[in-house]
Amino acid sequence: MRLPLRWVAILHGQVKASIAATSGIHTTQDVLKMLMAGADVTMMCSALLKHGAGRIGEVLTELTRWMEEHEYESVRQMKGSMSQKSVADPAAFERANYMKALNSYK
Ligand SMILES: Cc1cc2nc3c(=O)[nH]c(=O)nc-3n(C[C@H](O)[C@H](O)[C@H](O)COP(=O)(O)O)c2cc1C
Repeated sequence: MRLPLRWVAILHGQVKASIAATSGIHTTQDVLKMLMAGADVTMMCSALLKHGAGRIGEVLTELTRWMEEHEYESVRQMKGSMSQKSVADPAAFERANYMKALNSYK
């Protein structure tokens, strides 16, 4: 989910739209990463096909536990905390994209 993760982080706070993240979100950690990158919602498909719909409840329970352990009171509080706008070196996001373009040139 690296590609959607990076674009969520870049677009958070730059576009007047809600951001729904998808592709490769399988675990609670994946959900947390997407929320911190700036997603408003996260979506799961393959993980539910693999583990069944009960996986949603497990992820919600783990997410709630993680937030309590790390003293987060709401999803809003963590949303976008790791977005491009919030990190110390915002240009690193574009540089990573540039490096990828150079590496893929044939
Ligand atoms: C069996 C299957 C059916 C899907 N059907 C649709 C669909 O009807 N419309 C749609 O927009 N995406 C559909 N998708 C794409 C998923 O919504 C999702 O974007 C994609 O699977 C990536 O997320 P994931 O890594 O959680 O699976 C489907 C995916 C799978 C695996």
